[in-house]
Amino acid sequence: MNEPAEAEQYELSLYDHEFSVAYRHRVYFTRNAFDPGNPWLRDILVGPEHADAGRLLVTLDQGVAGSYPSLEERITTYFSEGAATPRLVCPPVVLPGGEQAKSGWSQVSTVHELIHRHRICRHSHVLAIGGGAHLDVVGFAAATAHRGVGHVRMPSTVLAQADSGVGVKNGINAFGQKNFVGSFAPPLAVLNDFALLTALPPTQKRGGLAEAVKIALIRDRDFFETIATQADALAAFEPTALEALIVRCARLHVQHIVSCGDPFERGSARPLDFGHWAAHKLECLSGYRLGHGDAVAIGIALDTLYSARAGLLAPADAGRVVGLLERLGFPLWTPELELAETDGRLSVLNGLNDFREHLGGRLTVTLLRDLGHGIDVHEMNPEWIREALGDLAGRSGSKKQAETP
Ligand SMILES: NC(=O)c1ccc[n+]([C@@H]2O[C@H](COP(=O)([O-])OP(=O)(O)OC[C@H]3O[C@@H](n4cnc5c(N)ncnc54)[C@H](O)[C@@H]3O)[C@@H](O)[C@H]2O)c1
Ligand SMILES: [Zn+2]
Repeated sequence: MNEPAEAEQYELSLYDHEFSVAYRHRVYFTRNAFDPGNPWLRDILVGPEHADAGRLLVTLDQGVAGSYPSLEERITTYFSEGAATPRLVCPPVVLPGGEQAKSGWSQVSTVHELIHRHRICRHSHVLAIGGGAHLDVVGFAAATAHRGVGHVRMPSTVLAQADSGVGVKNGINAFGQKNFVGSFAPPLAVLNDFALLTALPPTQKRGGLAEAVKIALIRDRDFFETIATQADALAAFEPTALEALIVRCARLHVQHIVSCGDPFERGSARPLDFGHWAAHKLECLSGYRLGHGDAVAIGIALDTLYSARAGLLAPADAGRVVGLLERLGFPLWTPELELAETDGRLSVLNGLNDFREHLGGRLTVTLLRDLGHGIDVHEMNPEWIREALGDLAGRSGSKKQAETP
């Protein structure tokens, strides 16, 4: 008698079902969200599908609270008026903002504890108001308490309104890596309030411009030309130009998330992260002295110059990109670009390994094949990176040239 085939030796019962869950992603733009007459927040929180949503925990980035001293009181008043209003479980909770807030578990535990103490359930909500870091840490805490309580984001920086706050990701840093711990958790809604940007320090306003240049370069040449035309107004943070940039940038991001077919990044590409492999590493190497937007500007400049070195992009176009970043006010050199490991390799190159590990599978980096058109590549030539760093060092007037990687 013949031996049964290997698979036939084992009994198997398989119940194989496919199911899908529909998400809705709503991004609002408004001004003065907490004016008593502004209905949007109340409408978001008490929609027909959330008729029993009664409890609301509000967290407030300390930077925002410090810039707008009457905001806490205005929030409390806003949610105390009208019958169909969610009930604040306590006054807005002010938490330290910035990268330090997401550098470890401490603030996640604080928010979990608040959710527990105030009995925020899966039909209640957490409203986070702050910069990208605050939204990342509070969003992660909300996504993990009770396996996910509803949350609404109110981004308060240009970068967060244009980019980080309008997406579906959250996270905290761990083991020296950005966003090592985190999840994909689409918020109930994102509400961008332009009035929150008035007191933002110039360096924080600038950060968002880098993400706009990034998405314009990989997706939308016309947007790149608009940014170039308006560079002086944008460098001066002229509100009309800035708000138009935020709306266009946010729409491109959201469009990508909802229509790319991979909103939870299961594939091995992260096309929106052009320039980010170096940026994330530089942020870590600087101990987060370097802000995300400033680091992204350097990462974009590096990968653009690399694209030209690799023969993908015309050198004149690469020059335009770097020139635009300079006109927007970005310093395009930082001492962390010169740090080396004990074997002499440039430390920033470890960002490529982090990127590969974070995605799983093989490395995929987006480069430029034209202004407005990204292209995925699966390896980067260390010699060309060194040359691109040399170009950058030369342009930025640095006397120091990059070491051999
Ligand atoms: N989740 C994502 O998809 C995603 C995408 C891109 C970036 N990010 C993350 O976003 C973070 C960067 O966010 P950011 O650029 O918004 O900076 P940030 O959150 O680090 O805030 C910078 C500083 O500005 C202060 N601040 C915030 N709003 C203010 C206001 N209106 N007025 C005065 N001060 C204010 C904060 O307190 C902080 O000190 C990074 O951690 C980055 O990794 C996340
Ligand atoms: Zn970014």
